Amino acid sequence: KKAKMIVEKDFKVSDIDNRIYGSFVEHLGRAVYGGIYEPGHPDADENGFRKDVIELVKELNVPLVRYPGGNFVSGYNWEDGVGPKADRPRRLELAWRTIETNELGTNEFMDWAKLANAEVNMAVNLGTRGVDAARNLVEYCNHPSGTYYSDLRVSHGYKDPHKIKTWCLGNEMDGPWQIGQKTAVEYGRIANEAAKVMKLVDPTIELVACGSSSRTMPTFADWEATVLDHTYENVEFISLHQYYGNRDNDIANYLARSLEMDDFIKSVTSIADYIKSKKRSKKTINLAFDEWNVWYHSNDADSKMEPWSIAPPQLEDIYNFEDALLVGSMLITLLKNADRVKIACLAQLVNVIAPIMTENNGPAWKQTIFYPFMHASTFGRGAVLNPIVSTPKYDSKDYTDVPVLDTTAVYNEEKEELTIFAVNRDLEDSLLLECDIRNFEDYKVVEHIVLENDDLKKVNSAKNQAVAPHSGGNAEIDNGLISATLPKLSWNVIRLK
Ligand code: AHR
Repeated sequence: KKAKMIVEKDFKVSDIDNRIYGSFVEHLGRAVYGGIYEPGHPDADENGFRKDVIELVKELNVPLVRYPGGNFVSGYNWEDGVGPKADRPRRLELAWRTIETNELGTNEFMDWAKLANAEVNMAVNLGTRGVDAARNLVEYCNHPSGTYYSDLRVSHGYKDPHKIKTWCLGNEMDGPWQIGQKTAVEYGRIANEAAKVMKLVDPTIELVACGSSSRTMPTFADWEATVLDHTYENVEFISLHQYYGNRDNDIANYLARSLEMDDFIKSVTSIADYIKSKKRSKKTINLAFDEWNVWYHSNDADSKMEPWSIAPPQLEDIYNFEDALLVGSMLITLLKNADRVKIACLAQLVNVIAPIMTENNGPAWKQTIFYPFMHASTFGRGAVLNPIVSTPKYDSKDYTDVPVLDTTAVYNEEKEELTIFAVNRDLEDSLLLECDIRNFEDYKVVEHIVLENDDLKKVNSAKNQAVAPHSGGNAEIDNGLISATLPKLSWNVIRLK
């Protein structure tokens, strides 16, 4: 089979906001305790942060980490997690039915993020709390000093403000599972008032309003329209959340799920623009896809969990090779929409539906999905281009005309590098890709990275990296024409310079 593609330097979709390579750490399962933080671990630093985990996070190149939730944030009192550790209360954590010790809180997380070279996307509780707690947290984090909450931070040993730029106004407030679930009008009102007041404390912050918890929510679309109708002038982003799973073991259909993600993005963009027109506003609301991933492997185990333990294993999906292919296509989808998706967070980062796993008192290791994320985050910086693609197509259970070749190209002008990301969705055949890169004169192939495996269900573990990329792809260039074989069911990164 054969596919053709033309890449033009001047056909630019958008500059890429590096925050699309964000991730997420929630107080959930072993993400914090036993994940990023494990005092007593042989690799822990003097603050209890696992250095092996920090190294892997740095390898992933994550510029932004959402924190502290997720569902957790809707019942969280941020004051519980600051000040002397001995005074911090243990609480029933109602979202995930565990015990939260509050040993790690806002300041410690800011310290950790600095070590990991990441900024923090901080969420406020609009479930059990509201405007007052939100504005106090902004004052605590961002105000220099000389007021009650800023001085409280200083008294806790943090003289300099954290200067947190990106903030989420609650989490999944449309979901019946959410602590303090709201109707769209109730949420729109409280989100707008919180936004207004948080920006009175610090006008430089950027705010994300909650969109629907997924495209399948019954209130989807009306929710976004109503929430933006209330919040439009005080927020910068509307959020999207989506997880997929291959529950029917139908690989052709599973790999086409990224088409649904694309449709979700286009739908939310048009809703945001509808409210823009309605309000005759000059301002454009962008999208924060602040939870996305595969999530289903651990559902059964989690449903059997006994409540009220500390940091039990929860949502510990072990990802296989086919999941890495879908994650690759989801990354390509985010890139294709980089003109409107300015923030995205792979949910999550460590142990909980995560690219990085740890063993308690043992090693940290890379899941299959680690690799496409690392490649996109490392080589996908600059501007995303709009290639013209001609590819065979197929139909699956839920989708028609699924392109066999899923691809995009990123041009890093500063480094003079061009990178083509491609998934071959074909179940049986390799795909011969011919790509004309016309005005990238004298560019040579630096590397053709391939992630492939004969076994779609193959997983990695602490002992065995069975699914790992190699640089043995056969891409070559002759007179501005790349030819490359993309093996059946593979993730490819063709790097040129
Ligand atoms: O990421 C896991 C959970 O998924 C988050 O806590 C919640 O926001 C979503 O439902």
